[in-house]
Amino acid sequence: MKRVFGVFGDPIAHSLSPAMHNAAFSALGMDCVYHAFRVKPEKLEKAILGAEAMGFGGLNLTVPLKEAALKLDCVKPDRLAERIGAVNTIVFKENEKINGYNTDGSGAKQALQESAVEMRGSKVVLAGAGGAARAIAFQLAADGAEITIINRTEARAIELAKEISAAALPGKVEGRGLSGLKAMLQDADILINTTTLGMHPNTETTIATAEELHSDLTVFDIVYNPLETRLLKEAKASGAKTVSGVSMLVYQGAEAFRLWTGIEPPVELMKKTVLEAFKA
Ligand code: ATR
Repeated sequence: MKRVFGVFGDPIAHSLSPAMHNAAFSALGMDCVYHAFRVKPEKLEKAILGAEAMGFGGLNLTVPLKEAALKLDCVKPDRLAERIGAVNTIVFKENEKINGYNTDGSGAKQALQESAVEMRGSKVVLAGAGGAARAIAFQLAADGAEITIINRTEARAIELAKEISAAALPGKVEGRGLSGLKAMLQDADILINTTTLGMHPNTETTIATAEELHSDLTVFDIVYNPLETRLLKEAKASGAKTVSGVSMLVYQGAEAFRLWTGIEPPVELMKKTVLEAFKA
């Protein structure tokens, strides 16, 4: 009988995860299917327990459920998910508690690694202090990066930096406002945008322009709608290396796939499938 996997969220109709995971299952000849389910936060616990009762293999959780999942008694988050404050992957195993993980940080790390970007000791400017920034910042700190979190609301950046410092990870971290970005970037190796700047429909907005960037930088925008954001265009114009948000989308999904199945997923095929779904 087919093993069922799925993504819960609201809205969820435009999720690219079903296409990505079904392509992987099918390429590996696995008798599995992945479906999107619209679930409201107040029904999340029932939905997760229902999925467990029906023998699902695993789940992804997306907006607005990732933080809510952490508060449920039925989900046991691992340490990283707990620190981040959000669960995006659920694993069901027979006779075990329902385990919760967060693969966003690992997805970002692998997207950077794909571009041969070294994390240890590198200087990273991380723009934003929301959920995605939290996941990436904890991962980067664990990997020994020197992180400056910059955010429109400076207090949020400072608070996140404090939390990460308290976790005593190898990396160094500080929080600041958005001013003086050009000077900060002069000295940096990587700029990561986790803010909503540049995201459809505000496609003309950007955290930085070519004039503030330089050719020794790697610029990673986790926004993937549009595929090439204004920031990535500005980065190309400045001669910087670019990493697109699609890579993170695929790698966080691939990491979830590994957690569910223990099998190495066909990452290139998953990426191709996502890019084709964008064109459709
Ligand atoms: P997510 O969970 O996807 O990271 P979020 O928690 O809503 O999303 O965070 C959005 C981020 O984009 C925040 O860092 C936000 O800055 P504030 O903390 O000041 O709200 C940032 N952001 C949104 N609109 C912005 C804008 N116009 N200029 C600069 N930063 C912006």
